[in-house]
Amino acid sequence: MTAQLSKKSEAWSARFSEPVSDLVKRYTASVFFDKRLAPFDIQGSLAHAEMLAAQGIISAQDHADIQRGMAQIESEIAAGKFEWLLDLEDVHLNIEKRLTELVGDAGKRLHTGRSRNDQVATDIRLYMRAAIDDIVILLRDLRLALLDLAEKHADTILPGFTHMQVAQPVTFGHHMLAYVEMFNRDAERMADCRKRVNRLPLGAAALAGTTFPIDRERVARTLGFEDVCRNSLDAVSDRDFAIEFCAAAALVMTHVSRMSEELVIWMSPRVGFIDIADRFCTGSSIMPQKKNPDVPELARGKTGRVNGHLIALLTLMKGQPLAYNKDNQEDKEPLFDTVDTVTDTLRIFADMAGGITVKPDAMRKAALQGYATATDLADYLVKKGLPFRDAHEAVAHAVRHCETKGCDLSDLSLDEMQRFSPLIDADVAEVLTLEGSVAARDHIGGTAPSQVRAAIAYLRSRIA
Ligand code: ARG
Repeated sequence: MTAQLSKKSEAWSARFSEPVSDLVKRYTASVFFDKRLAPFDIQGSLAHAEMLAAQGIISAQDHADIQRGMAQIESEIAAGKFEWLLDLEDVHLNIEKRLTELVGDAGKRLHTGRSRNDQVATDIRLYMRAAIDDIVILLRDLRLALLDLAEKHADTILPGFTHMQVAQPVTFGHHMLAYVEMFNRDAERMADCRKRVNRLPLGAAALAGTTFPIDRERVARTLGFEDVCRNSLDAVSDRDFAIEFCAAAALVMTHVSRMSEELVIWMSPRVGFIDIADRFCTGSSIMPQKKNPDVPELARGKTGRVNGHLIALLTLMKGQPLAYNKDNQEDKEPLFDTVDTVTDTLRIFADMAGGITVKPDAMRKAALQGYATATDLADYLVKKGLPFRDAHEAVAHAVRHCETKGCDLSDLSLDEMQRFSPLIDADVAEVLTLEGSVAARDHIGGTAPSQVRAAIAYLRSRIA
């Protein structure tokens, strides 16, 4: 430990007369979580060094030494041989120190015209850009899996609910497409967020810029950033992009969670609309009969922690004066956990969509209860000339009659029906069927199987 302390004191320490306590050291260190930024830290450092050399701020030899040292560090990290030291506080100082050990003075020159403040902001942006790219692909996989499921069940009918009461029949394909729409918007939001992530803070240095003749645009090009951050104070202190990302991630999880809630209900033996493949479920340690939908339940639960991370970041930023404050070190764990949670959840859900077995008979049976075609009967009367409000009333009477009789609208004889409206004819039978009901909603966004198929083709062409 003492040897490590002396290493740290070389980093910024002539100013200090005593070492920090072990507790303070642990409290202020971030290396155990920010070491995951290492590949991005190295990438950013290499781009910075290349620019320093191109501008004549460091020599070509120093640049070559830095490249050589970084290659060695990369392989040490990949091999799990890199020694991360708490005494060196964070990923940046750990890597810089090792570089200096490996290549000497060139390593000490790397930090010219740079601060950890613009360095860490750059690292996070590089990390997040990669994370967003992964998430966009996973959202695509999930939508494709849901489209397959929708296509298989474009004709399968289940009751649609409002207020959790049977409302009107819908097709299962249509129901799945509602989630595809949600995940489409999520992908759009992620792509939009990426634009603001993809800007270069490096060059802002500690807060005010640097006295060296740097070329920020060159570094931006090297790192694939679309632009440079235009104000040095904002560049080192801005975390809007992380908050935006967490908000977009919270919405992804909200959609996953709503879907999970339905999957859990549908898998309940009292509903029995679906089964979920065993590999996504677990049993009970005491009740031998149990098969629990753990994955959707957990996803519903994990939505809470992602929402929490969004609030954590908003709260982290709300009281910060310009420019960088150490508070910002607290951005990483919520951000990393959000990325991990959303990434794992999407990966599992894309796989699980293929493991859902739909039970059309149970769905059909449920759709036949609860007068799901009552609106169709009202619409039928309107088409025969009755004003909608009167039609609504006539059907309400018919439903009430059925309730006392304990039967469905379709069980009534034509004579019985005509008691509620003389406009009712033999052609009403078709209207009261589940198939007739869904097929009649034949317009863009409607539940008719033909529309579901058209929507699937449209969505596939947009996703591909
Ligand atoms: N570990 C720090 C963070 O995550 C890096 C920046 C520290 N800058 C400083 N001046 N102490 O924010």
